[in-house]
Amino acid sequence: MCGIVGYVGERNAAPILMKGLEKLEYRGYDSAGIAVHDGKNVNIYKAKGRLKVLEERYPPSEVAGVLGIGHTRWATHGEPSELNSHPHVSGRIAVVHNGIIENYQRLKPWLEEKGFNFISETDTEVAAHLVNHFYEGNLLRALKKAVALLEGSFALGVLSADYPDTLVAVRKASPLIVGIGDNENFIASDIPAILEHTRKVYLLDDGDMVVLKKNDVRLYNSLGERIRKEIFHVTWDADMAEKGGWAHFMVKEINETPKVLHDTLLPRIDENGRFSLSEISGFAAMAGGLRRLFIIGCGTAYNAAMMGKYFIERTARIPVEVDYASEFRYRKPLIGRGDACIVISQSGETADTLAAMREAKKRGARVVAITNVVGSSVAREADEVFYTWAGPEIAVASTKAYSAQLMALFIIGTELAFRVGGIDEEQYSAMLSALIKIPEQVQRVLDNVARIQQVAAERFNAKNVFYIGRGMDCPLSMESALKLKEICYTHAEAFAAGELKHGPLALLERGTLVVSLMTEEALIDKTISNMIECRTRSAYILGIAMEGNIKAVETSDECIMIPRTMDCFAPMLAAVAAQLFAYYVAVQKGLDVDKPRNLAKSVTVE
Ligand code: AGP
Repeated sequence: MCGIVGYVGERNAAPILMKGLEKLEYRGYDSAGIAVHDGKNVNIYKAKGRLKVLEERYPPSEVAGVLGIGHTRWATHGEPSELNSHPHVSGRIAVVHNGIIENYQRLKPWLEEKGFNFISETDTEVAAHLVNHFYEGNLLRALKKAVALLEGSFALGVLSADYPDTLVAVRKASPLIVGIGDNENFIASDIPAILEHTRKVYLLDDGDMVVLKKNDVRLYNSLGERIRKEIFHVTWDADMAEKGGWAHFMVKEINETPKVLHDTLLPRIDENGRFSLSEISGFAAMAGGLRRLFIIGCGTAYNAAMMGKYFIERTARIPVEVDYASEFRYRKPLIGRGDACIVISQSGETADTLAAMREAKKRGARVVAITNVVGSSVAREADEVFYTWAGPEIAVASTKAYSAQLMALFIIGTELAFRVGGIDEEQYSAMLSALIKIPEQVQRVLDNVARIQQVAAERFNAKNVFYIGRGMDCPLSMESALKLKEICYTHAEAFAAGELKHGPLALLERGTLVVSLMTEEALIDKTISNMIECRTRSAYILGIAMEGNIKAVETSDECIMIPRTMDCFAPMLAAVAAQLFAYYVAVQKGLDVDKPRNLAKSVTVE
């Protein structure tokens, strides 16, 4: 996790570094720091807490120098403190690091024997000392030797006091891009950090190193050989990574859902009005003979995977196994040739998901990635990629990317179902037509925000919240509860409605808020019985149901209505209502919606 940024050029580095870090704060925000070369020395500025503490303490306009590196931290080794924050210094070397150096405990005594003194509790300090140990005036050579000894995941940005015009960096299993400007160049953990300055980037591969000067970018592989790369042109603009007048990124991103769904869906409909799976043609060709499908992800992506299972098993009748990536990678999964594996990741950089994907590939399965980030590690390592065109998602809590993941799964699942004879031509057309209407129907959910806001204002104090549902409302409950946990710090649990009486009902007390998701209308009577069981025990019931569902309205204390669509696609509408509810509860509680405590957006460590 953590975000790093680097600049070399003609302008003052500090404001550019701080601005870049602002865009990376979603990756970690417990401390921040920069190192700036003033022409003679490398000066270090650090502060515990949010980036604004650093900016207030060291106004960027007062920091001189045209070369620098910066870091925003999500603590892994050592508590959040000024001492543990980056950059870390060893002699004339300064280093920023994103990732985890797994063998730091082995390297530390070896370096101590050589006379290096450790002052922090971080793994990163090992990297700084190691580069210093090998440094004999050639920064790239020292970095290469240090990297050869480091195990784990890391993106490093390195400066030497001896070179007021040079920045070196390396990427291994942690994201790093190079931005190419006019008389200036950049490194960053993610594109938004540099988008204000350039849209031309190099996407580094594992082991790649780079030497940057203001007029020169040299790329090297892990052997130290010069390499060339295609320039990647970023198509989205800086506005998409800005709040644009909204109070928080989260609410902005929820409101982008209609566009995101439209962008994810329309390019996949061909001139004959049918779904095209041309991007994943190898996977599509397996449809008839597919033994089993695995879908893997973490957090929200896992919840989307679970929704995919319900949908694909129901329509295509292909067995689907869903796994947490963190479990899949170690449980010796029974996956092999003839199986396919869909890996879902918004960022495309989640460490567990990447490892699980490699495991699936190693065992012979065909791997398809559903990801939002072009050129991400997941995208590059998968056999085929089906992009969600959601644009940058900055808020830690995933919203629009989740919706796009569902849309991707529904497109793939519908086409798969038709190819294997699970649905006929008429059902296929009806499903396609229903999906086309979804973006406009999501807009109607968004237009109903005042109602959702009102319920949130009335109920934000609930200490315990149950989310219940049957069928596809069950994975939807999981995702809805996760949103509340993440940004409201409210204890929220998802239960299959039928499971309540097998234990969880014991937790129910006066004032417990039960959010009942009722888009599975074929099962509505069963869910209603469960709601009544809760009501008779003094719970407050908030329903979410499709328009015209009288029973849902009658049984709920309050019911948020969503437009009518096919049951199987209604979760895309109900999810947006649940996201808005969580958002307004967090706002009522006065919490930091976009950067919830203890979390970070991209979980690039295990
Ligand atoms: C979502 O709200 C969470 N922040 C988190 O669960 C996230 O979905 C998970 O870490 C997976 O991230 P990814 O999609 O980038 O792989």
